Amino acid sequence: MADKTQVTEDGKGQTTEVGSLTVTDNRTGSSYDIKIKEGTVRAMDFRQIKVDEDDFGLMTYDPGFSNTAHCRSAISYIDGEQGVLEYRGISIEQLAEHSSYLEVAFLLIYGHLPTQAELDSWLYQITHHTFVHENIKEFMNGFRHDANPMGMLLASVGALSTFYPEAMDIDDEYQWHVATIRLIAKMPTLAAFAYRHSLGLPYVYPDNELSYAGNFLSMLFKMAEHKYEPDPRIERALDVLFILHAEHEQNCSTAAVRTVGSALPDPFTAVAGGIAGLYGPLHGGANIAVVKMLQRIGSTENILDFLEGVKNGNERLMGFGHRVYKNYDPRAKIIQKHIDELLEATGKQNPLLDIGRELEKRALDDEYFTDRRLYPNVDFYSGVIYEALDIPTDMFTVMFAVPRTSGWMAQWMEWMNDPELKIARPRQVYTGARDVDYVPVEKR
Ligand code: CMC
Repeated sequence: MADKTQVTEDGKGQTTEVGSLTVTDNRTGSSYDIKIKEGTVRAMDFRQIKVDEDDFGLMTYDPGFSNTAHCRSAISYIDGEQGVLEYRGISIEQLAEHSSYLEVAFLLIYGHLPTQAELDSWLYQITHHTFVHENIKEFMNGFRHDANPMGMLLASVGALSTFYPEAMDIDDEYQWHVATIRLIAKMPTLAAFAYRHSLGLPYVYPDNELSYAGNFLSMLFKMAEHKYEPDPRIERALDVLFILHAEHEQNCSTAAVRTVGSALPDPFTAVAGGIAGLYGPLHGGANIAVVKMLQRIGSTENILDFLEGVKNGNERLMGFGHRVYKNYDPRAKIIQKHIDELLEATGKQNPLLDIGRELEKRALDDEYFTDRRLYPNVDFYSGVIYEALDIPTDMFTVMFAVPRTSGWMAQWMEWMNDPELKIARPRQVYTGARDVDYVPVEKR
């Protein structure tokens, strides 16, 4: 049982309970005191629990890390019960209303809102690193015409490490900052090149006079006009989406960045690991899966049949459910607010939106979903917005990867600075055979 023996102050006004857990091993009758700090016990403290001297010691088993903290972090905070998300202590609602994506990126990475001088310098640096080496264009041209843009992004971010070998010197903190600026600045360029490649259109070079979101729109959509003029409403909606997707603590892709990063490769390589994690339909790929699901449902009349299929375990309601949120994802609420505004700006109607809204209503009226505390997550409506922006479905996960780069770099830097940094090397419970003799092929 837990015992609250002490309360400590960490100097930032946070109090931490320090207590202990008394564990009795019923195999041996021995008891152990295990320290509790910050609501956690150290897995290594269980290693002392042995049946005899030859025993390896007790391990914890946690596939999918459902109840394992793999780091300490001061970047983002989620209260899954209340549906709260904060970046460096500031609520996502306030940031979405008052801030810009690049200011948020600075906040995540450096831990405070920038002063005007810091912001000006940051914007200047990002704006002046948006170009990529011409060989990247050649490299992009090597992909098939129908290559998935997420695969192209993954490969080209990995390739950046070969263009900037100085980033390998991870003892040089200056290089961390240069790589961070390069990654945040070049990600939209690579993403837009991947998109243009899939359409067989010439690549559009960055326009340094536009905002981060405006320049991205220009690189995606500019045709023969001399200068692309983004609609400010669309530019702002995209910037808000970028803020919402910038960071989300220890999800699959961020854990991948930390895991790959723990072997100390350059940060471009670690971020390529994050992009690989984001690719899958249970993570960043969910925004694609949602739109495909809504298209398949086809009409509000088919919703009940579809939900029956979900309840019978034949399919998943994509864009619903979250490992951490057991309440409405606050990002989904903010997206909802922007949808109508955006559709008005683009002059488009999206019939999928009606299906999505009705599907949400029906699901939230149904005990299957409420009992399991399944609510819409960020991906439920983001695809509808991307569609309104004329972004093809295959690009949706790329649209997630572009802003998540700042979160990944904030996490990577925090990890590189962590005195407890060590190579990620989980254990396993071996379930296979032992001492099996090799059988020559002719005898098998
Ligand atoms: N549709 C139907 N049932 C679901 C769903 C869903 N989307 N999500 C969870 N469940 C059920 C699940 O079958 C299980 O039921 P039971 O207790 O009867 O076995 C219960 O709810 C608990 O689910 P779980 O699979 O143990 O939960 P998890 O924490 O392992 O999975 C998740 C989290 C996000 C992978 C899952 O909810 C899911 O697959 N959602 C759909 C995909 C999706 O929208 N992903 C985007 C996540 S948010 C953006 C991001 O961070 O990438």
